[in-house]
Amino acid sequence: MKILAIETSCDETCAAIVEGTKIWSNVVWSQIDLHKGFGGVVPSIAKRAHEEKIDWVVNKALVTDVDAVAVTVGPGLAIALEVGIRKAKELASKWNKPLVAVNHIEGHVLSGLTPEVKFPAMALVVSGGHTELIYAEKIGQYKIVARTMDDALGESLDKAARMLGLGYPGGAMLEKKAEGGNAKAYPLPLPMKGRETERAFSYSGLKTAMWRIVNQLINSSVNQLSEQQIKDLAAGYQDMAFKHVVRVSKKTLEDFPVKDLLVGGGVAANKELRKRLAEMAEELRFSVWFPAKGLYGDNAAMVGIAAGYKAEKGLYEANIDAVDREPRARIDEVFKWRE
Ligand code: KG4
Ligand code: ZN
Repeated sequence: MKILAIETSCDETCAAIVEGTKIWSNVVWSQIDLHKGFGGVVPSIAKRAHEEKIDWVVNKALVTDVDAVAVTVGPGLAIALEVGIRKAKELASKWNKPLVAVNHIEGHVLSGLTPEVKFPAMALVVSGGHTELIYAEKIGQYKIVARTMDDALGESLDKAARMLGLGYPGGAMLEKKAEGGNAKAYPLPLPMKGRETERAFSYSGLKTAMWRIVNQLINSSVNQLSEQQIKDLAAGYQDMAFKHVVRVSKKTLEDFPVKDLLVGGGVAANKELRKRLAEMAEELRFSVWFPAKGLYGDNAAMVGIAAGYKAEKGLYEANIDAVDREPRARIDEVFKWRE
């Protein structure tokens, strides 16, 4: 079954056609340039940009006929979600095709799925808005078993990058700078050291420590960090941020009867993080699954993949008119739609 999927939950306008895990097309229009100057996503600007681009991405993605339409209903920015939902309803009605409503986080969870993944499995979602370990009993049935107490990992990397004057979003820029840095040059703390059993992530302490060091360096020099200082701080911050993710993941994986780890979300684009997770998996004799290139950050193909499993079970929206945005949708409530 071919599904046209639409995703407008944040700052990417996306459409894709997916058949099972086969991707026919995957179009992403990134609004990053529009939000850059504000240091974060501005909902009203996102909404307007989605409205301007939605027809373009859908038309570009439409490389073949489809049997159903899918759309992200949440979580995300309410007025941004609305744009994709309106378009999906319009097309489903016009073509007389069924509509599938999808949870954005389930899309990230399933973005690296292959037929070899065995359930129950664990999923690690690391994005700009989420840092969660999700126990997947089976596809569609999820329980969040570790979440962040403050910032999400991507958000934290973005803030660190900003302190170093690297622009927005900073995760990828921080990764580049870190390559040439000495992670041990500055005393940055490992978050929640020795508290891994609490199964929680926290990045506020690391952020505060970074802020202090940056200020001290700036005050004691010529008001500007040197290139080497930036590289060392980027490397140190990334090192501690990732060490923390790996330690909490490891502890959690040991506590659950799983052998497979699915990783998704924008931060999984980071090579160093993937390397460390792969090393951890080898040590624990786990299989770790990463999304294909282009499926880390927000995209509609992952929404189409998740929609495919719902469609297989006939879980279409009975009343298209009633489909509405769910800005605070929770992944652990997805299964209720599926029973
Ligand atoms: O999944 P995503 O595109 O959007 C959300 O659903 O939030 O994730 C965006 C986040 C941003 O914080 C961005 O800085 C981060 O992913 N990111 C990276 C890299 N590429 C994107 N973080 C670290 N290394 C990267 N290469
Ligand atoms: Zn996302």
